[in-house]
Amino acid sequence: MNILVIGSGGREHALVWKIAQNPRVEQIFCAPGNAGIAELATCVPIGVHDFPTLAAFAEKEEIDLTVVGPEDPLLNGIVDYFEERGLKVFGPRCDAALLEGSKSFAKEIMINYNIPTAEYRSFTNYEEALSYVREKGAPIVIKADGLAAGKGVTVAFTLEEAEEALRTIMLDAVFGEAGSRVVVEEFLQGEEMTILSFVDGETVVPMVPSQDHKPAYDDDKGPNTGGMGTYSPVPHYDDSVVQTAIETIIIPTAKAMVKEGRPFRGILYTGLMLTEQGPKVIEYNARFGDPETQVVLPRLETDLVDIFLACVDGTLDQCDVRWKDNAAVCVVLASGGYPGSYEKGKEITGLFTGREDIIVFHAGTAEKDGKTVTSGGRVLGVTAIGKDLYEAREKAYGVIPQITFEGMHYRTDIAMKALKGLEAKQN
Ligand code: AMP
Ligand code: GLY
Repeated sequence: MNILVIGSGGREHALVWKIAQNPRVEQIFCAPGNAGIAELATCVPIGVHDFPTLAAFAEKEEIDLTVVGPEDPLLNGIVDYFEERGLKVFGPRCDAALLEGSKSFAKEIMINYNIPTAEYRSFTNYEEALSYVREKGAPIVIKADGLAAGKGVTVAFTLEEAEEALRTIMLDAVFGEAGSRVVVEEFLQGEEMTILSFVDGETVVPMVPSQDHKPAYDDDKGPNTGGMGTYSPVPHYDDSVVQTAIETIIIPTAKAMVKEGRPFRGILYTGLMLTEQGPKVIEYNARFGDPETQVVLPRLETDLVDIFLACVDGTLDQCDVRWKDNAAVCVVLASGGYPGSYEKGKEITGLFTGREDIIVFHAGTAEKDGKTVTSGGRVLGVTAIGKDLYEAREKAYGVIPQITFEGMHYRTDIAMKALKGLEAKQN
């Protein structure tokens, strides 16, 4: 089999790494890929939006399955396009990817199908949004409606912050068209959990849960990022929490999409807030999470390509998906300045491959004059696998000091919530 993976981040490196473990896979291509992916796959310099060139490449190389990593090509209809050309592709069509592409569409689905989520209103008029925010008061959450690379959300603890967020999204239009509509949401208190699920329309197979760390600095301080680190499992919560989420959120969402005539086939990402009233949806994504994938896939026992093919063929109900009884921690090493502006092209030293229990997934790296250099905000995801989170965390933080690049910063508290939660549970 020949596989084409589309994307260039840490998530795609993890996908390629897992796909490479299938003995039937002969060749893996990645468009456009990065310096780490290039060690496992042939990287081809085709942009993720260039559908005609990507499809022509898939035809020429006799690709048996194309796997789409990021959300933008999904929302722009890459799956619809590949299907029209008779190519096998894994991911939701654009009408289903809208669960991620429009927060107001996602909210309507949740309200109409009684899926627990924060109370909200959506606005296109700045004055109306402002008076609603003033009426509700802080804390309150302001979200740009469209895609904003995980940065379009402000959790405002004061009215001033909320008003400033409305101004920057709606008047200054920093997210462009994505901010022409805003969603104003009730603030939910609790810890967050991500559950990724394989979905083939009706059938849903949830993966092991993970927890992301969105704020840039330790103790959840600083601006929101795409994710600074993850861990899996989330052992300080009982399995019953996950079970409730599956029954009240994940299965009803897949059913709702079928009923709406836009069946979801691909990876459904549910970002949950574990509130006192039970899990509630913070956001849906229509793809694997980044860096959640980096801790979930190392725990998957079953072959990933077989699961993808079952999703595409609508036979997921016949797939026996198994997980390992281990733990994984991923710490993101970011460029100085990220999530704000940062410089690229810094030489990275101390990289390694060849260890089964510690994998350095590349997110924003490139090859330049024989050296590996930074090329993005999130540069690397150091992922360690251990028998439990204590061991995985120790291994990950144990190797980080040997990796360097100018300006590198990372959080030192990834997975600490779980360890503190476990200790509190034992006392
Ligand atoms: P989102 O991009 O929608 O996942 O939001 C980014 C982050 O903002 C989430 O991971 C949460 O930490 C936070 N957030 C979003 N919505 C809410 C909410 N309703 N209440 C509290 N925090 C939220
Ligand atoms: N880590 C958050 C996301 O992938 O959206």
